[in-house]
Amino acid sequence: MNDCQQVFLAARPEGFPKLKDFGLRKASLREPDADEILVEIEFLSVDPYMRGHMQGGIYRTMKPLEIGDTLYGGAVGRVLRSRSPLVAEGEVVEGYLGWQSHATVRADSVRKIDATLAPISTALGILGMPGMTAYFGMTEVAKPRAGETVVVSAAAGAVGSTAAQIARILGCRVVGIAGGTTKTRHLTEDLRLHAGIDYKAAPDLHEALVAACPDKIDVYFDNVGGDTYDATTRWMNYGFRYIICGSIAEYSSEEAGIGPRHLKRFEVNRARMQGFGVAEYRPRYNEGIAQMAKWLNSGELHYRESISDGLETAPNAFIEMLQGKNTGKQLVRVKTS
Ligand SMILES: NC(=O)c1ccc[n+]([C@@H]2O[C@H](COP(=O)([O-])OP(=O)(O)OC[C@H]3O[C@@H](n4cnc5c(N)ncnc54)[C@H](OP(=O)(O)O)[C@@H]3O)[C@@H](O)[C@H]2O)c1
Repeated sequence: MNDCQQVFLAARPEGFPKLKDFGLRKASLREPDADEILVEIEFLSVDPYMRGHMQGGIYRTMKPLEIGDTLYGGAVGRVLRSRSPLVAEGEVVEGYLGWQSHATVRADSVRKIDATLAPISTALGILGMPGMTAYFGMTEVAKPRAGETVVVSAAAGAVGSTAAQIARILGCRVVGIAGGTTKTRHLTEDLRLHAGIDYKAAPDLHEALVAACPDKIDVYFDNVGGDTYDATTRWMNYGFRYIICGSIAEYSSEEAGIGPRHLKRFEVNRARMQGFGVAEYRPRYNEGIAQMAKWLNSGELHYRESISDGLETAPNAFIEMLQGKNTGKQLVRVKTS
């Protein structure tokens, strides 16, 4: 019986996660029972939500993570053995397979990937959960109209880069916020946004937004939270939508963030603030993927991946993603040979 390598939760992080919060171990491969498949994982996804998950049960749709559990996470891989009529050996599947080299799971818990559409790693990025977050978050929740001004934070990341480009494709003026000059150049040169703001260098984020958004802001697609709340809501237009996709600036903070302010502006501008989760859209992924694949093939959508090699590098890749070292989707290549 072969071994399976796993990354497990060694300790709940205090503040910013550290390498000692993770452990690496070997376990025996479990052969599939009836209706199960054994998958050899090729890529795994490193996502900000893992930070909350490491803390315990904050997500309604996920089982709370206990100390000693294998890290939960999206992954894509090839089926080595199948005892299900749903999935054949050799097929490529995506699912919450965990931070490990192999997974034995129910065949009906995975999504089959069309490996001819794009490289299979995209099933974790632009044609996967982050891409679907951007697609449904922008087209169904934010619903920007052509000519409106849309601001997106963490705009060089997996969700933000895609959400911002979708708004550009829909005919909006799009301003991205990201950290550093290389990332802000990427926003205008590769993603073709109208302007990019380097929040780390801007002396005053609000003033930078005023300069970049002469017609004020109609939609703020927020991946970050924190200081961006004040900076954007002080420059809202009538009918403003504040879409809460994520709040990464607050995930490792032990202090409570400031509550919503400037509420009078929400009243007079008939503004809306709304959170959403991609989990509810999972049954509609095929629809989103079909549209995104068209935009990818026509060259309207650009994507980047930051890839770290080897399962043992996953904890460091996760920490570095939280520090903003990634551009585009952060992945770990598990099968390196
Ligand atoms: N609602 C949903 O269903 C859903 C689904 C997926 C993801 N999300 C959320 O979407 C957001 C982006 O996720 P992702 O997977 O696409 O990650 P990502 O943007 O690829 O990576 C995270 C990025 O966040 C930025 N960041 C980190 N700390 C920051 C801080 N203190 N202030 C400002 N920016 C900071 C960094 O970019 P810079 O270098 O630019 O700082 C980093 O590259 C996260 O908040 C995540 O929780 C929500």
